[in-house]
Amino acid sequence: MLQHDVLVVGAGLAGMRAALAAKQAGANVAIISKVTPVRSHSNAAQGGINAALTDRGDDWKEHAYETVKGSDYLGDQDAIEILSQDAGRAVIELEHMGVVFSRGPDGLLGTRRFGGQQRARTFFVADITGQAMLHVLFEQLLKSGITLYEEWFVTSLVMEDGQCRGVVALEIKSGKLELITSPAVVLATGGCGRIYEPSTNGLIVTGDGMALAYKAGAPLMDMEMVQYHPTTLKQNGILITEAARGEGGYLLNGKGERFMDKYAPSMKELASRDVVSRSEQTEINEGRGVNGCVLLDLRHLGRQVIETKLAYINEVALDYLGISLAEAPIPIRPGMHYMMGGIKTDVHGATRVPGLYAAGETACVSVHGANRLGANSLLDTVVFGRRAGDASAAYAKERGHKNVSEAFVADEEARIKGILARSTDGDSVAKIRLEMGQVMNDNISVFRHEEGMKKAQTTIRRLKERYARVGVQNKGKVFNTGLIFSLELGYMLDVAETIAAGALARKESRGAHARVDMPDRDDANFLKHALVFRTESGPRIDWLPVTMTQWQPQKRVY
Ligand code: FUM
Repeated sequence: MLQHDVLVVGAGLAGMRAALAAKQAGANVAIISKVTPVRSHSNAAQGGINAALTDRGDDWKEHAYETVKGSDYLGDQDAIEILSQDAGRAVIELEHMGVVFSRGPDGLLGTRRFGGQQRARTFFVADITGQAMLHVLFEQLLKSGITLYEEWFVTSLVMEDGQCRGVVALEIKSGKLELITSPAVVLATGGCGRIYEPSTNGLIVTGDGMALAYKAGAPLMDMEMVQYHPTTLKQNGILITEAARGEGGYLLNGKGERFMDKYAPSMKELASRDVVSRSEQTEINEGRGVNGCVLLDLRHLGRQVIETKLAYINEVALDYLGISLAEAPIPIRPGMHYMMGGIKTDVHGATRVPGLYAAGETACVSVHGANRLGANSLLDTVVFGRRAGDASAAYAKERGHKNVSEAFVADEEARIKGILARSTDGDSVAKIRLEMGQVMNDNISVFRHEEGMKKAQTTIRRLKERYARVGVQNKGKVFNTGLIFSLELGYMLDVAETIAAGALARKESRGAHARVDMPDRDDANFLKHALVFRTESGPRIDWLPVTMTQWQPQKRVY
């Protein structure tokens, strides 16, 4: 049996920031990751991180207000105030750790404008900001002496007397299951993007933490709030950063018109993501697209800007489309990108299960509400990752260690033996995963309606039945990736069911949840969070008021 004070699951930005904070607070910390840390999905974040720095006349209250408005008033305002007030400190701290932020001609840290915000307050490292941050935090992690369980997969949380006391995890290279006990566990496993096909998310983004917490009795919150990013490639869902529009790019329809003038006369291409994605989809649906897409035109920015500030997406366009962004527009469309919903936490990362914390995309604190502003996700990871690390270390110190029975490992061994013993005739994990991704993308996406959401719900239930019967080809122990894919699919199906349940329960349109059959926001009945609890007969929904501090809901125009 392995033992730590704080165990962090997931080594992306939120996980590493939490681990560093807990270590600094004096805890014996370990971090466990199913991939090598620098392969975590935070690596894929491109455009930047928001902060209102006063040295350029910015004000945290403006950032907070725009985040509240962006969230379509579903974000909790106490949490948003913390996010915006702590942002400047967090960015400067990252810079001091070694993140080489791009600078302007005046030598100061450079900023670009992102959607839903009047000011340029997004700090960036060209168009590889997440990658730059991830590598620097990994250096800090290596320096800190934190124990790293690399390429280990968590199969269950250890729950005793209603408290989380650790995890059972599988060492992927040996197939060995181990009990790792700790009075505090922090889930920082990222989102669940691969429930959808296609998605901008890496193949590893399978909702593991959400499913583990849900099974342990922690409610998930606002799971219907799924963000479709306005600019993704049609063929494979790869992200083309919002920074392309932040630097001045245009969206054009098939007639060559800048159609955002019609939908968001003031902010145009830099309206909030939900608004831009709906506008694009409307152009496509009404026959003004180009083969199911619209166009992103950057030619007027010139080669110099493209090759320095947007070099990575230029490479993507060249590799996948054979197009240089300086020479021609590229076809793009809205694609699944981010989960605003997640494990319900307080502002210290505590879930409703004692000993269990969460941070980053897997959590819902809630700073993003019904629609996240671009570049607030990297900020969320470091601000609330740090807070979860501090709080979990304090909790572990106060509670101390308890003995945990090794029987938890035996239970998991039996469960995995059962999966390996199942037949592989005809059906497969890959087939079920693809059908799940397609039904979610077809029915719970940019525009939604009752019938489609019910179809997705029914299909997910059937897929769960098929999943319970399907086995894996590889029966071995060493690097059994087939087994990992199967366990991940189990997590995804559970989470997909909560998305469908939340979407059906919210009988209004708000932010990313745009119902064609109920097109208006209904503050009288739905200015509240949807909490999803696991029961034997499926997800159960409960409601929770939104925390308001200083901003009352208003009509949202950009
Ligand atoms: O467009 C982007 O660069 C994505 C940023 C984000 O999701 O925050």
